[in-house]
Amino acid sequence: MKILVCGGAGFIGSSFIKNYLKNNPTHKITNLDNLTIGSNLDNLKGLKNNPNYEFIKDNIKNHNIIEKITSDVDSVINFAAESHVDRSISNPRPFIETNVLGTYSILEAIRKFEKQFIHVSTDEIYGDAEGTTSFNENSQINPSNPYSATKAAADHLVSSYHRTYGVNCITTRCTNNFGPNQFPEKLIPKSIIRSIKNLKVPLYGDGQQIRSWIYVYDHVQALESLISRGESGQVYNITAYEEITNKSIVEKILKILDKPTDLIEYVGDRPGHDKRYSIDCSKIGNDIGWKPSYSFDSALEHTVNWYLENKDWWEPLVDENTLHPQPWTLNWK
Ligand SMILES: NC(=O)c1ccc[n+]([C@@H]2O[C@H](COP(=O)([O-])OP(=O)(O)OC[C@H]3O[C@@H](n4cnc5c(N)ncnc54)[C@H](O)[C@@H]3O)[C@@H](O)[C@H]2O)c1
Repeated sequence: MKILVCGGAGFIGSSFIKNYLKNNPTHKITNLDNLTIGSNLDNLKGLKNNPNYEFIKDNIKNHNIIEKITSDVDSVINFAAESHVDRSISNPRPFIETNVLGTYSILEAIRKFEKQFIHVSTDEIYGDAEGTTSFNENSQINPSNPYSATKAAADHLVSSYHRTYGVNCITTRCTNNFGPNQFPEKLIPKSIIRSIKNLKVPLYGDGQQIRSWIYVYDHVQALESLISRGESGQVYNITAYEEITNKSIVEKILKILDKPTDLIEYVGDRPGHDKRYSIDCSKIGNDIGWKPSYSFDSALEHTVNWYLENKDWWEPLVDENTLHPQPWTLNWK
């Protein structure tokens, strides 16, 4: 089996590649990534001499290269995206370019060569979940910010290509991921790194936003299962059912690191901030038998320890991207 992984130098894509090649050592992966923000080839340094892995630096919008590689693989899985909500609020354009036009570029190649497409989307396309509601795959899409709107647009494109052209595609909508190698600007790594450095840990608004979380290794295992067992044209929600407030997460991190809670600093809320995300993922359990294997607390502890033990990975990234500018000084207008 040959797979084109787009965006495989980022957090989830690199975890997918390492996990997939460990489980399927004779399969081949081509990783195409334009090495923009969030990428880090260090995530994949263990594969440098693996003959079944190759890296190509390019943009998913480069249709010629996408066509050329797609013609020679069985399946394409796309992680490539502009993925940070705060950045999408400051400047939506790159999100439209990559998340919408990039997905279109891949879909055209998939249509031409009749290959399988796994479209990695997000639960954020459903928007706020009121009360105790949990969205299932048939729930209405109601994105709140430019990031989730562009991901939602891509979801619609994918389903339209299935319905109109009969393209073989699967869409996944996963909750917030965490784990090793996550870029330092995201909530969990940023909170860990700032706590380690005894810097204030910012929380938007009152910190009561609720998210459900998944350890990245559970997510990539679900994706691998879907390549062989997912049904074309279907959407699968993926979560580990851990719903927790942002404040509780930061408190847990401070506790693991034995730091005082007064490191928490409440800052102005993110415009359009969704209060709660919640999805029901019974479908993927019933249809393909996937279920998460990690508990939130043990995975969080493992993640904190990983950042403690891998300062050489994040130190070079932190100077540029985590501490300057502070997220609350971004220009929202
Ligand atoms: N992180 C989460 O919690 C989460 C949750 C659900 C879904 N997702 C989705 O999973 C995917 C991966 O997320 P992530 O957290 O690993 O993101 P990431 O930002 O760490 O990685 C994205 C990768 O895509 C690459 N990329 C961006 N634009 C590109 C382009 N035009 N051409 C080629 N490569 C490009 C980047 O260089 C980077 O390596 C995204 O599609 C995201 O929407 C993420």
